[in-house]
Amino acid sequence: MFDLNFDRYDISDNQLTLQGPLAQAKITLSSQGVWRFCLGPKNVEKQPWVASVAEWSAFDIQSGEHGLTLQSKDKTSSLSLNLNPFQFTWNNRKFFVRHNENQDKKGFHKRRRLMLFWNESVSSRYYGLGERTGFLNKRGRVWTNWTTDATNHHPHADPLYQAHPFLILTDEKQCGGLFLDESWKTQFDLACNSPSQSSARSDGATLDFYLIPGPDAPSVARGFSQLTGRSPMPPLWALGYHQCKWGYRNESDIRALAKSFRGEGIPCDTLWLDIDYMDAYKSFTFSPERFPKIEELIEELGRQGFKVVTIVDPGIKKEEGYAVYETGKERRLFTRTAWDEELVGEVWPKRAVWPDFFKEDAQAWWTENHKVYTQAGVAGIWNDMNEPAVFSIEGQDPTREFPLDARHGPYDHEEVHNLYGHKMGEATRKALAELRPEKRPFVLTRSGFSGIQKHAWVWTGDNVSSWEHLEMSLPMLLNLSLSGVPFCGADIGGFFQNCQPELLARWIWVGVFYPFMRNHSGRDRIDQEPWSFNDETTAICKAAIEFRYQLLPILYTLAKEACDTGMPILRPCFFLNPEDRESHEIYDQFLFGNTLMVAPALRPGQSRRTVYLPGEWRDLWSGQAADKESNWSLCETPLQSIPLFQKSGSALPWTESKAHTENAYWETLMFTVALGNVITGHVYEDEGEGFAEGSRSEVIGSFDGETLQLDFYDHSGLSRPVDFEILGMTLPTSSSEPCRETERGIVVTWRGKHLKLSWAS
Ligand code: GLC
Repeated sequence: MFDLNFDRYDISDNQLTLQGPLAQAKITLSSQGVWRFCLGPKNVEKQPWVASVAEWSAFDIQSGEHGLTLQSKDKTSSLSLNLNPFQFTWNNRKFFVRHNENQDKKGFHKRRRLMLFWNESVSSRYYGLGERTGFLNKRGRVWTNWTTDATNHHPHADPLYQAHPFLILTDEKQCGGLFLDESWKTQFDLACNSPSQSSARSDGATLDFYLIPGPDAPSVARGFSQLTGRSPMPPLWALGYHQCKWGYRNESDIRALAKSFRGEGIPCDTLWLDIDYMDAYKSFTFSPERFPKIEELIEELGRQGFKVVTIVDPGIKKEEGYAVYETGKERRLFTRTAWDEELVGEVWPKRAVWPDFFKEDAQAWWTENHKVYTQAGVAGIWNDMNEPAVFSIEGQDPTREFPLDARHGPYDHEEVHNLYGHKMGEATRKALAELRPEKRPFVLTRSGFSGIQKHAWVWTGDNVSSWEHLEMSLPMLLNLSLSGVPFCGADIGGFFQNCQPELLARWIWVGVFYPFMRNHSGRDRIDQEPWSFNDETTAICKAAIEFRYQLLPILYTLAKEACDTGMPILRPCFFLNPEDRESHEIYDQFLFGNTLMVAPALRPGQSRRTVYLPGEWRDLWSGQAADKESNWSLCETPLQSIPLFQKSGSALPWTESKAHTENAYWETLMFTVALGNVITGHVYEDEGEGFAEGSRSEVIGSFDGETLQLDFYDHSGLSRPVDFEILGMTLPTSSSEPCRETERGIVVTWRGKHLKLSWAS
C-alpha cells in the first residue's frame, strides 16, 4: 500500500480540487455542514448514487505550514488537511488514504483501489451499517456491503440482504457520520484487524464519501436521512398487524384465515399472498386454479376490513407467450450478459430473466405490468429475491449470484449489484404512485441500499424461529433505524424451523413495537398464526395485537416525526443522553420514541430482567414510579405482557383497539400522563391515507408536587372528549373535573376546559 499524494490545489465554484500524480480529490461542503470528498483517478467524474445535497456552500481556505484549513463561513464546520501525504483531521480524528496498484485479477479492469483509514481511540463505538447480525456497537468486526440472499443466516453471518455503507463513529470526544456513496462491494474494518486503526474500502476506482456532523448520534441520524432522503408517510393500515405464511395455497385458505381473525376477535389489517398465488410462479399473474376470482376475493376481504399485499419477484419466467416476458424481451428490458444476450438463470419459475431497472424504458413497462394488481384491488407490493437472488445461472459454475460482468444499462453488474433491490423498490413505488395517485404507495423490500426508505419498508429476511433471532432482531432493527430506515421489522415468530408457543408469545409482544408488525413463516413449518398453539398463547397474542392497535396514535405520531425529521421510531437507549456511558452498548431494551422504554424478555423461562431507566420513569402497567435509587431496576417479565415504562414529564396518546384501522383521526383518544415539573405530549392525526393535510394537537402542563395544570390544544376538528390518565396518582383533593380511579392511577375527562387537579392536604 502506498500513501496518496497531492501536489496542487485550486478552488472554484465552492469546490476545492486537489491534484496529484495518480489521483484527484474534490472537496465540497453542504449548507448543512456535510463535507463531501470525491477521490479517484484523474478525470473520472463520479456522480452521487443516492446522496443528494440541496445546496453547496462556500467555505474559507487558509494555507499554513501544515497544510490547509477549511472552514465554513459560519465557522461551525472545519477540517484541516495535508496534501503530501494526503491526510485530514475532522472531528478530532485523523484520516488518511492509501492505494494499491495491483492489476485486477481478471486483468481487464485496471484499478487503483483506494482505502480510507482512520485512527482509533479506545472508546470508539460504531453504529449504523443497516441490517446486520451482532450487537448494537459494530466495533471489532469487518462488515461487507454486498446484498446477499442470506437465507437461514446465523448470528455471525455477514453480509445480509441490505447494503448500507454508513457509519456513526463516536467516542468520548466526538460523534459524526461517514457515508460511502459507492455501489461497488465495499468493506469496513472497524478496529478488527488492528485495534488502533479502522478502514473503509471499495472495489471501485473512486472513494466518494460524506462526513456528517454531530454533535451526537441523533443529529447524525437526522443529517444522514436528509442526505439520502426520508420516508414518505405510509398509509395507516400498514402500521396495523399483518399476517403472512408461505403456504396459504388458495382462496379458501385466505378466506379461512380472514374468518379466524374476525372469529377470534384478533385485529388484523393485512393478509399477504406469497408466491403460491401465481400461475407457475409467473410475476403479474394469478393462478387460475387456486386464485380464480381474485377481484371478488379482495373485495370480499375489503368488506371485512382486510387489505391484500402480493409478493413480486424480479425473476420473470422465460416462457414464450407469457406477455410480461414477451414485451420485456421485445423492448430489450432484461439484464444482459457480457456478450449481449439475455442473462438466463433459475429461480422460483425455473428458467428466468431479470428486468434491468437501470434502463429508463423499464419504468413504463414495470408500471404497466402492475395494473394487474391495482385493478384487482391489491393494496401494496412485496419485493423479494431482489439482491438479486438466483438458484443458478446458465453457462456458469454453480452460483447464487449474477456474473459480475452481466450488463445493466451502461453498467457492469459488479458496479451496481448493491443497487438492484433499491432500483426495484423505486420502480415499484413509482408504479403504484402512477397507477393510484390518490393513495400512499406501500412497498416492502428485502434488499436495498442506503436511501431505500424513500421507496420501501424493509423486513430482515429469512430469520429463524429461535430465541437468538428474537434477541438479534433488536440491535438489527435499531441499527437499520439509525441508518435512515424507520419502517422496518423482522418476521415475527421466525421464518425457518418451527416456532414454539412461548417464543411466539414473547415475539409477538416485541413485534408490537416493530414499526412493521408481520407474522410470517416458511413453507412446511408448523403454523404460527396467533391461534395456532393453545388457549393461553392465543389470548396472549390477542392482547398483544390489541395493544398494538391501542398504541397506534403514538406510532402514527412517531411515523410522522420520522418522515418529517428523520428521527427513527425505534431508538437506542443512548438517545436519551448520548454522553451517558452506561447506555452505550444496551441492545436488549429500546426506546419507542423518546418517552417509552421497552424491555422485553428474550430468553426461555425468563421471569425477571434488569432494565436501565436513567432519570424518572413510571411503570406503564402499574403506574408506579420506578426505583430512583439506582438507574437499574429489576422487573418482572410475565408472559402475558412486556415491561414498559413511560418517562416522567410526558403525555402519550392511545386509542381503543379495533378489528382493523380506519382513519387516523382518533374518535377515542386517551393520554397517559407521567407527572413531571413540565408535561408535554402531542398527537399527529390525518385521514391515514391520501395527501390531505393533517393536524397536530398538543398537551402542555405542569406539576409542582401538589397541583397539576393541564391544557390540551385539540386541532383535529373533532368534537370529542379526551381522557387523561394520570399514572400513579390517587383521587385529588380538589379537581376542576370529575375523576375516577383506575388500576394504575386516575382518569379525568377533558371537554375543552383547562384542567386543574390538586392533592394539597
Ligand atoms: C424468500 C422470502 C420469504 C418468502 C419466500 C417464498 O425466502 O424471504 O419471505 O416466504 O422467499 O416467497
